[in-house]
Amino acid sequence: MAVIFAICSSKFMSSVKNLVVNIILFIMIECNAAYNVYWKRDTSPVMFGDSVNLMCMVGRQEGCDNSTTRRWDGGPNNTILLLNGHSSNATKYYEVTKDPCDNFSLVIMNFNMNDVNQEYWCSFGFETSRQNLPLDEQNFIGMPTKNNIHVSVQQWATKLDISIGFYKVFPKPKCKIKIGDEHLLIDPIKSNVSRIFINAYLHKTITISKDRCHGNVSIKCALLTTTILDITQSLNCSFSCR
Ligand SMILES: *[C@@H]1O[C@H](CO)[C@@H](O)[C@H](O)[C@H]1NC(C)=O
Ligand SMILES: *[C@@H]1O[C@H](CO)[C@@H](O)[C@H](O)[C@H]1NC(C)=O
Ligand SMILES: *[C@@H]1O[C@H](CO)[C@@H](O)[C@H](O)[C@H]1NC(C)=O
Ligand SMILES: *[C@@H]1O[C@H](CO)[C@@H](O)[C@H](O)[C@H]1NC(C)=O
Ligand SMILES: *[C@@H]1O[C@H](CO)[C@@H](O)[C@H](O)[C@H]1NC(C)=O
Ligand SMILES: *[C@@H]1O[C@H](CO)[C@@H](O)[C@H](O)[C@H]1NC(C)=O
Ligand SMILES: *[C@@H]1O[C@H](CO)[C@@H](O)[C@H](O)[C@H]1NC(C)=O
Repeated sequence: MAVIFAICSSKFMSSVKNLVVNIILFIMIECNAAYNVYWKRDTSPVMFGDSVNLMCMVGRQEGCDNSTTRRWDGGPNNTILLLNGHSSNATKYYEVTKDPCDNFSLVIMNFNMNDVNQEYWCSFGFETSRQNLPLDEQNFIGMPTKNNIHVSVQQWATKLDISIGFYKVFPKPKCKIKIGDEHLLIDPIKSNVSRIFINAYLHKTITISKDRCHGNVSIKCALLTTTILDITQSLNCSFSCR
């Protein structure tokens, strides 16, 4: 009896095993056949203070119906953000979608430094895409406020003194200085970082050659392709040039 029981039980166990394997296979096949969900940042460049759109791409749509759950989670408080279009905080998040089975987006309003380097995950039915939203220097811009741009151009005869400062910007600004039609070689702007924003400053004293005394000095600075400073001033070397 004991032997028979052992055989039965091992048969039983193997059939349970098969069942489990079958269920696992079934789940794997079902998942592959269902949706292939992932999200990507749909705003470029991201402007701090503006809105950012993260789009959840919903792959295949067979078998999808309007009851499939759309959901966003994560962010700085690691909470549910959106569920079927309902926002957990309507002053911060809203959903954009056309049809129940189409891609759907999380819009983050007043995007700030707490919202970056955080994980966000979108779910469509049982499929989830979980990713970090990393800060990088090619896709994010922190514009300085007017008060956070300091520029001074002073001239004493042929000595030109240029001083520029930007506070709380991202990424590090790039500046070009032109005297007449000559581009000045300048050292990279110096900077220090507070959390993610950057304080950048540049100070340069130049001696202008006499033949350029009647031209202009122009200074142009940009964050990526966004100009943040563009000034032109006429030179006046009347002390020594006349
Ligand atoms: C939805 O996402 C897919 C990629 O999964 C993309 O090819 C398609 O253009 C998107 N549809 C819309 C309406 O943006
Ligand atoms: C969902 O789809 C069903 C069948 O197409 C329809 O009867 C129902 O009104 C739809 N519900 C919503 C909320 O769109
Ligand atoms: C996270 O929670 C804190 C404290 O409850 C709140 O002040 C903050 O606004 C929340 N952030 C977001 C993005 O909802
Ligand atoms: C909703 O978001 C706003 C803006 O970020 C924030 O001030 C507020 O505290 C948030 N509310 C909750 C309940 O987290
Ligand atoms: C960063 O730069 C600003 C502007 O020059 C300066 O006032 C501040 O002291 C600097 N901070 C550090 C930690 O160096
Ligand atoms: C200097 O700049 C002014 C405008 O700011 C322009 O009208 C003038 O033509 C410029 N002069 C030269 C020599 O480029
Ligand atoms: C140049 O500077 C001299 C001395 O400060 C001044 O008298 C003159 O008016 C200036 N010329 C111009 C075009 O600004």
